[in-house]
Amino acid sequence: MTEPLPQRLQPEELKTLFLFEALDDEKLEWLSAAGRVEQRAAGTVVFAEGEEATCFFVLLDGMVSMHRQVEDTEVEVVRTDHRGVYAGATQSFVRGLDATRYPSSFRAITACTFWVVDAESFGERIREWFPMAMHLLEGLMLGMRNSQSMIAGRERLLSLGRLSAGLTHELNNPAAAAVRATSALRERVSKMRRKLAHLASADVDSEALMALTELQETAVERMVKAEKLSPIEVGDAEDALSDWLEAHDVDDAWDLAPALVAAGVTADWLSEVADTVPAELLADGIHWVTYALETEQLMIEIEDSTDRISTLVNAAKQYSQVDRATFQDIDVREGLRSTLTMLHYKIKSAGNITLVKDLATDLPTIPAHPAELNQVWTNLIDNAIQAMPDGGTLTVRTARENDHVLVEVGDTGVGIPKALHNKIFEPFFTTKPVGEGTGLGLDISYRVVTQRHGGDLRVQSEPGNTWFQVRLPLVRPTS
Ligand SMILES: Nc1ncnc2c1ncn2[C@@H]1O[C@H](COP(=O)(O)OP(=O)(O)OP(=O)(O)O)[C@@H](O)[C@H]1O
Ligand SMILES: [Mg+2]
Repeated sequence: MTEPLPQRLQPEELKTLFLFEALDDEKLEWLSAAGRVEQRAAGTVVFAEGEEATCFFVLLDGMVSMHRQVEDTEVEVVRTDHRGVYAGATQSFVRGLDATRYPSSFRAITACTFWVVDAESFGERIREWFPMAMHLLEGLMLGMRNSQSMIAGRERLLSLGRLSAGLTHELNNPAAAAVRATSALRERVSKMRRKLAHLASADVDSEALMALTELQETAVERMVKAEKLSPIEVGDAEDALSDWLEAHDVDDAWDLAPALVAAGVTADWLSEVADTVPAELLADGIHWVTYALETEQLMIEIEDSTDRISTLVNAAKQYSQVDRATFQDIDVREGLRSTLTMLHYKIKSAGNITLVKDLATDLPTIPAHPAELNQVWTNLIDNAIQAMPDGGTLTVRTARENDHVLVEVGDTGVGIPKALHNKIFEPFFTTKPVGEGTGLGLDISYRVVTQRHGGDLRVQSEPGNTWFQVRLPLVRPTS
């Protein structure tokens, strides 16, 4: 472990450290007597986060790094060999903070020499020497702590809010469609039962019944293969079918025609049917076939809606990554896709926004926290949408750039004046009306990209052409 040298720093040596350069001789004398020089071997943990904060350290020589535990990962906050930097019980002199534990871990990267002083007596002295500064500091630090915990709370709320707003909007449509289709289906099935009873009591021979059943099968097959018609073509086809049905004395022609057209049934096909089915059964037969087509269509609708619902639930799961908190190798395109799915309603309801997805086909995976990156994509895309109230083009692009993956979000909105390019990343900076923006989106994104992933977030903007660029390293930031 350590080999504390029984060595002191002389007042004039202490004066060369920026922290102490303005102190008078008396204070320097006290420090010189109170402190000691200590050495640590390369790779030593000088102190660990959460341990009782007993010492204040000033770096005299060597390279150190500072780390913080975030969830289950250790993140390097800073690495430096700057003589005079300090760490440890740096808040011991501020009362009312219960700063009795080290807020981070401190490591010697190379062999290091520190000037070390006992925190308690150092704190006491500082309070005595600078009473007014202490009051001001106390106020400042308490204020900072409060706003920090407020920000942390907001972060979770923000992403939760965005997630649930997106989800409820998106789930609403398919869920309502499934409910509608199910009740329509129930009605059709009961009509079909009645029609069947009618046919059975009409003394139809079994051969004709077989022909009708076969007809249903072929009609359903045709429906699956039916080409999609334009609205005008649909109108024309419905008119033609109605005419045919009326000419052949089939009742409710106007009611049957739309379902038949949707299933790709043509007048020619109906004429073929008329040739195979006994004339007295034609009307019932066509009703019968139509019910089959309608039920089939409703079932397809239900299937589509429920598929959509499960796609959304999957996207939400992917998006929130509830079950994965650690670094893992991910494909950023997956997160971008699920984020776009989540924001689909917003893009759509903003009106007139064209989405251009330009996702590189051969993108390497990167080590990342997927849920956090999804927050970044959400914030950037959200901002881009909000910047184009009158519509425009939203571009999401990925590319490999040397040893980074580059993700770009572009919009054709108003742009950001140069003078604000730094400001927009500050917490609570917003140009949006109260209640619309909190000004935290970019602050959170910046921290996620730089501190958590060792990446870089930049903006380029002129009116009509704004790009946010996220660069993420292919290898995990060292910690
Ligand atoms: N794509 C963009 N085009 C124009 N201005 C932008 C764009 N992105 C961000 N800004 C500006 O940056 C400011 C800060 O953005 P930020 O995302 O941090 O907060 P916000 O969008 O105002 O609120 P929220 O916390 O809800 O995201 C915005 O108010 C806006 O003025
Ligand atoms: Mg925003």
